[in-house]
Amino acid sequence: MASQRGQVRKAVRVSAMGPSCQGHRYRARVRQLLPEPISIDPAEAHVAAHRPPPTGRPWVLLNMVVSADGATAVDGVSGELGGPEDKVVFSALRAVADVILVAAGTARAEGYGPPRTSARRQAERVERGQAPFPRLALVTRTLDLDPAAAMFTEAPEPPLVYTVPDAPADRRSALGDRAELVTPTAADGDDGGRGDRRRGPGDVDLAAVLADLGRRGARTVLVEGGPALNGQLVAGDLVDELDVTLAPALVGGESARVAHGPALAVPTGLVLAHLWEADGVLFARYVRDR
Ligand SMILES: NC(=O)c1ccc[n+]([C@@H]2O[C@H](COP(=O)([O-])OP(=O)(O)OC[C@H]3O[C@@H](n4cnc5c(N)ncnc54)[C@H](OP(=O)(O)O)[C@@H]3O)[C@@H](O)[C@H]2O)c1
Repeated sequence: MASQRGQVRKAVRVSAMGPSCQGHRYRARVRQLLPEPISIDPAEAHVAAHRPPPTGRPWVLLNMVVSADGATAVDGVSGELGGPEDKVVFSALRAVADVILVAAGTARAEGYGPPRTSARRQAERVERGQAPFPRLALVTRTLDLDPAAAMFTEAPEPPLVYTVPDAPADRRSALGDRAELVTPTAADGDDGGRGDRRRGPGDVDLAAVLADLGRRGARTVLVEGGPALNGQLVAGDLVDELDVTLAPALVGGESARVAHGPALAVPTGLVLAHLWEADGVLFARYVRDR
């Protein structure tokens, strides 16, 4: 199964377009509403966006699709929420990422596959000095990941798996050379004095993960969730950009918010960098004003 957001959208796309459009490459007409109304190309706009890495770690951008009433999943996966427009923007964000960071819960729920991208986009990435594909990185305590999953067997580069020192030895060896296992320590990252608000005992230190990715040359890390991972990054003040797709749908249910976890003592302000619209779907890009 390969139903991560970028791939499950294919099924949604066909049903959303109707038979007359099937078989044709979908081109979303995305218009910018703010800062000034113009039509834009999401891929070009995201390549042109300013993302200066903070000291000691890459720029961290978080991308999620949410229903108008705040749901992040339908029947346990995000795929139903987005449409063809979301897939276009999702792909544009993946195209600028050096690393896609995802929590094991989402990788399991969504049946993650390897990052895929067109030959043209690979060439554009290489021209910009990036690897042809973003590298996948996972965080997990349990290492409960199937070594036969496509994200391992079909990856252009073995995924990075960040885990804890006492992760089960049998699962470590089961992953073998299909992944690069890393056990970062808190000393690898600067926690800025926030310490325990970012993680619980026995968790992977996410500041250390980002510091490690920075040392490996990553300048832009795209976080694809889920809410539990996002919540720790928000609590640790490790999010530089939030790209939210707001789907025009009511879902109800009990799925978690975009960031689920400890509340901040003081809410962090964001600046709206742009607001786009395509077929009723809104795309808001917020950045931290540091
Ligand atoms: N709407 C969207 O755009 C979107 C995007 C992503 C996900 N989702 C949805 O969100 C749901 C999953 O989210 P979730 O919040 O339940 O889980 P999650 O954040 O995806 O994953 C939680 C798991 O990740 C690992 N993990 C997270 N932080 C860790 C840390 N600091 N150290 C070590 N391991 C860590 C642990 O894995 P182990 O259990 O392996 O130790 C933990 O159980 C799914 O329904 C998915 O479809 C929606």
